[in-house]
Amino acid sequence: MKTLLRVDCSSTRTGSHSKELSDHFEVSWRKTHPQGKVIRRDLIEERIPHIESNTITGFYAPEEEMTEEDKRATALSDQLIAELKEADEILVSGPMYNLSVPSALKAYIDQVTRVRHTIRVGEQGYYGLLAGKVGYTITTKGGYYKGTESELYDFYEPYVKTMLEFIGIKVKGQISLEGTSLDTNLTDTKAKVKAEIDQLIHNTI
Ligand SMILES: Cc1cc2nc3c(=O)[nH]c(=O)nc-3n(C[C@H](O)[C@H](O)[C@H](O)COP(=O)(O)O)c2cc1C
Repeated sequence: MKTLLRVDCSSTRTGSHSKELSDHFEVSWRKTHPQGKVIRRDLIEERIPHIESNTITGFYAPEEEMTEEDKRATALSDQLIAELKEADEILVSGPMYNLSVPSALKAYIDQVTRVRHTIRVGEQGYYGLLAGKVGYTITTKGGYYKGTESELYDFYEPYVKTMLEFIGIKVKGQISLEGTSLDTNLTDTKAKVKAEIDQLIHNTI
């Protein structure tokens, strides 16, 4: 039985393009994994705090020397990492904000990128510890980037892929819906993107 962890981060509560696409992803994924389990983590419905000084102290404290305060300060990180570890496949879905990820997603990334838990420092540098898992991203953007001179300014997709792979998750697909503020035929464009999602899920079974 496979487990999908679905992470959403759009602040838009009604009519979110990225959530519509991740809903589609989830439905399509469930069709190919009828016995599968889906864990939903909406970073807006349940806020993830920024890491604080005591979180950092707890992250770097040797396991056997962790104080009660260290344990309290890292309890949420433990929970989020446990969810990632439980999942076989991870979907990160959200909108581009100011050329990058919404701050809610950055706060999440800071909570789950953690020495000894998701990364290890070895002689050759960093190693991701979540090997064997597959990642996907869905990104919605108001403008157009791919194949344009603005592509250089897309700090969302390359960043999320890099961070998932940094902790060991192999990114198998990055789907994007671009031009949500400009496209006059968004319904058709969305239908094409949904077909891409179906294809991606079908190809990675
Ligand atoms: C605060 C904010 C910042 C945004 N910044 C960008 C941007 O830098 N580039 C872009 O193409 N679209 C930008 N957008 C547009 C969103 O990425 C776009 O509307 C997206 O489709 C929203 O997806 P959602 O409906 O899932 O929230 C921004 C939107 C908001 C609300």
